[in-house]
Amino acid sequence: MTEIRLSADLSVDAIEYASRANAILGIRDSGKTYTGTLIAEQLFVAGIPFFAFDPIGRWRFLRLPSKDGGPKARGFPVVVAGGSAPDLPLTPDDAPKLIRAAMASGVSVVIDLYSVKLSKADWRKIVKGCFEVILYENEGHGLRHVFLEEAGEFIPQKVFDTATYAAVEKTTRMGGNVGVGVTLINPRAEGVNKEVLELCENLLLHRQTGKNSLTSLEKWLKIANVKPPKEITDSLADLPTGKCWAWFKEIGKPKLITIARKQSFDANRRDMAKIKGTGTSAGRVDVSEFVARMKTALAGKPVRPLTEGFVVKGGRNQGPSQIKERPAPPVSMIKKQEAQVDEKEARALRAENEELKRKVARLEGKQSRDQPAAHVPMSANGEPLDMDTIYAEVKRRAAADPGILRLLTEKPEIEMTVERKSIQVDGSSLKGRIAKLITVGFFDEGKTQSGTRSELKRTGSDVNQGNLWKTLAALVADGFLTLESGKEYRVVEDMKINVVEK
Ligand SMILES: Nc1ncnc2c1ncn2[C@@H]1O[C@H](COP(=O)(O)OP(=O)(O)OP(=O)(O)O)[C@@H](O)[C@H]1O
Ligand SMILES: [Mg+2]
Repeated sequence: MTEIRLSADLSVDAIEYASRANAILGIRDSGKTYTGTLIAEQLFVAGIPFFAFDPIGRWRFLRLPSKDGGPKARGFPVVVAGGSAPDLPLTPDDAPKLIRAAMASGVSVVIDLYSVKLSKADWRKIVKGCFEVILYENEGHGLRHVFLEEAGEFIPQKVFDTATYAAVEKTTRMGGNVGVGVTLINPRAEGVNKEVLELCENLLLHRQTGKNSLTSLEKWLKIANVKPPKEITDSLADLPTGKCWAWFKEIGKPKLITIARKQSFDANRRDMAKIKGTGTSAGRVDVSEFVARMKTALAGKPVRPLTEGFVVKGGRNQGPSQIKERPAPPVSMIKKQEAQVDEKEARALRAENEELKRKVARLEGKQSRDQPAAHVPMSANGEPLDMDTIYAEVKRRAAADPGILRLLTEKPEIEMTVERKSIQVDGSSLKGRIAKLITVGFFDEGKTQSGTRSELKRTGSDVNQGNLWKTLAALVADGFLTLESGKEYRVVEDMKINVVEK
């Protein structure tokens, strides 16, 4: 049995962990990312590939060995897409293709979302597209784990991007059936959608403060059938960084643990600013072979997966040449997961899959009438042609003489028209004054009612508390703002506001 050693006194079965839904919660700087990356290191050693979606830009340091330089210090050959010095570029449109290639080649990938070029809408598009590929296409590729940092950005309590929410929720709920487990990482318990948090079977709880967080956790504990001993609730606010309470379904009783040492680099904020990409230090792991595998898969060429049915044995400088066989997941585990799926939901999902298949078949039917069937081009001696080289050469010639080549492609597309409501308000009315605050970005980060009142007072006359509440509620009802956790108003992206000055 391959284990994840979380602390000196707690180890859990790697396959069990990898195939389940887990959550790591704790306030800023409490050690969540450290714990998440420690688990990722050990999944790698167990031969279980992972994807990490990282809006903060910390996971790329998995490639560097720990600073302490101890005998166990080592970096891990994960491919980094996006961020400050990517192995592969990351765009919202290409991210799902990248994930598909990584699944085919058994490579672990860090999707580094930390970039000025990516908006939060881009983050959500990437996560939605990638999670859909992971959920619907992983079957047959072997066990895989997904880490989602800042999970509340994608599955907030008050859902406004239903498509992204659905992709993450479904993967958390149904992933076990296709060999996909998730770890949701977020600072506050109440920042993550309650329905999704309740799907998590295991919880690692770092320092946590605030009444709302504690209430959310108590609800989770109730669902998980754990009666929190008073010592836990009392200790949460003062837990030192690196200590956490661990609830594992099969262990049952919560346990206070001190997280084990990582083998890879633990970047603090100063290191993050200083070290570009994955660094240039001597211990940095070379991933060129892994990147090459992914590029082969991206080009649609067959590639033998690194880890499907295999396990990479522990040890330094391991690479594809040190692959050993991994036992298949126990049948009892698969049965257990199947039993957990609500039959009604499974029926709905099957119907949805059938409908999607019909749509795809219709589209393919149309395409095959319009275009010749796809085939693998061969050279005169029967070898498959290297399409990358041909494409590069065509591009070079086209650039040298742009007049000679004009390529027209046509592909079927589904067009969707979104009709937006447009409301015109008087700039001097209370609604108009709040609308102005929306246009200057005041509500981008979420603001309370009293914060809004102070800003209105600062920029003009004071307003009546009751009128303010009613007006904010009307803007929520009209879809311009959302009310988060019952106390913070936040702007809904893409809504248009015309302020008419008098
Ligand atoms: N188990 C640990 N052992 C040693 N140092 C740790 C441990 N956990 C965290 N730290 C240190 O504490 C700091 C904060 O840890 P980490 O970044 O993991 O917190 P976080 O909860 O993810 O914070 P944020 O919410 O800002 O992302 C890091 O600089 C790290 O070096
Ligand atoms: Mg973190």
